[in-house]
Amino acid sequence: MAKRGRTRYLRVNPRRPDPLAIHVAAQILRHGGLVAFPTETVYGLGANAFMEKAVQAIFLAKGRPADNPLIVHVGSRYQVQSLVTAVPPVAEALMRRFWPGPLTLVLPSSGRVAAAVTAGLTTVALRMPRHPVALALIRAARVPVAAPSANLSGRPSPTLGRHVLQDLGGKVDVILAAGAAEVGVESTVLDLTTAPPVLLRPGGVTLEELAATVGEVRLDPAVGLAPLAGVVPRAPGMKYRHYAPRAPLYLVDGDPEKVAIRIVALVEEARSRGEKAAILTSEEKEEYYRARARPALLLCLGPRSDPARAASRLYLSLKACDRHGVDVIFAEAWPESGMGLALMNRLRKAAAYRVISV
Ligand code: TXA
Ligand code: MG
Repeated sequence: MAKRGRTRYLRVNPRRPDPLAIHVAAQILRHGGLVAFPTETVYGLGANAFMEKAVQAIFLAKGRPADNPLIVHVGSRYQVQSLVTAVPPVAEALMRRFWPGPLTLVLPSSGRVAAAVTAGLTTVALRMPRHPVALALIRAARVPVAAPSANLSGRPSPTLGRHVLQDLGGKVDVILAAGAAEVGVESTVLDLTTAPPVLLRPGGVTLEELAATVGEVRLDPAVGLAPLAGVVPRAPGMKYRHYAPRAPLYLVDGDPEKVAIRIVALVEEARSRGEKAAILTSEEKEEYYRARARPALLLCLGPRSDPARAASRLYLSLKACDRHGVDVIFAEAWPESGMGLALMNRLRKAAAYRVISV
């Protein structure tokens, strides 16, 4: 067991977590402590959703703005009943199809969770994660667990236990570490308080999958291409600069051949300024950049046909850029179907909307 300050770092088996470690973490959680735990999307920073003080401690540890509400994680469908005023048929259908899994549903709140959880909204965001460690922890705690991603506010979300230790070591009671989070980007957030439902944040469940279950789904304008003037996102979290590596990231969009040519030129210019550049590339262009751009760091996200794989590697890659101390990052744009929508959403935010169109 490693310790940093007051933080206990417990390694657990991702599929068959040690019951004693789960018991210890669940007791701490239940009684007001902070426990970071793996989910299938990213690591979460959990607190008992009924305890105002514990929930406030999350905001403090992350440096998170108080107007950004948290997702409440449940361990059973039964738990949902007490947290919302009603479960509409569309919610039933979605829970049946996607829970446990990377889908968060926004429903009218019963007001039972601590006020800080919902940041003054009349709605509450609920999700049942499918990671065995997350499920075991929430069920053992026997309370709903409020949990944002376990990173410092504004930084890329953690997909490994050691990322959590880097950001929050000394600030939380326990970190349960169980290897890599499989999806690698956060859950999809869907608002069910309006008809048709509105996608507030693309994530681990795709728009296409949702539409196949509920028919029409609208995209919140803030999910889209650029920060539209005057458009305030309805998922408060989506308005902040997010997922950002330390170095500025430029997203280069357009025909893939032209994108590659432009990125080579951009790296060359950076070199002439004395800057170390990183490239986030698809597999198709990896050799091309290695031969022509020779960047300080070349990170391959996988084939263009597999945006889910690319999404799962994104935060890891951004953190590698931090570790290597690069001065500037150039990333290729990806097609926006399937998991490509979530991937591009995070890339745009990591780029703070610095998009170069070619
Ligand atoms: O995959 C995930 O969802 C991870 C893991 C730990 O479960 N959690 C996560 O939490 O990403 P967080 O706090 O980083 O993002 C929660 C998002 C924010 O954009 C927040 O504004 C939105 O959900 N949200 C929470 N409650 C809401 C509500 N009542 N109405 C609209 N948006 C809400
Ligand atoms: Mg987050």
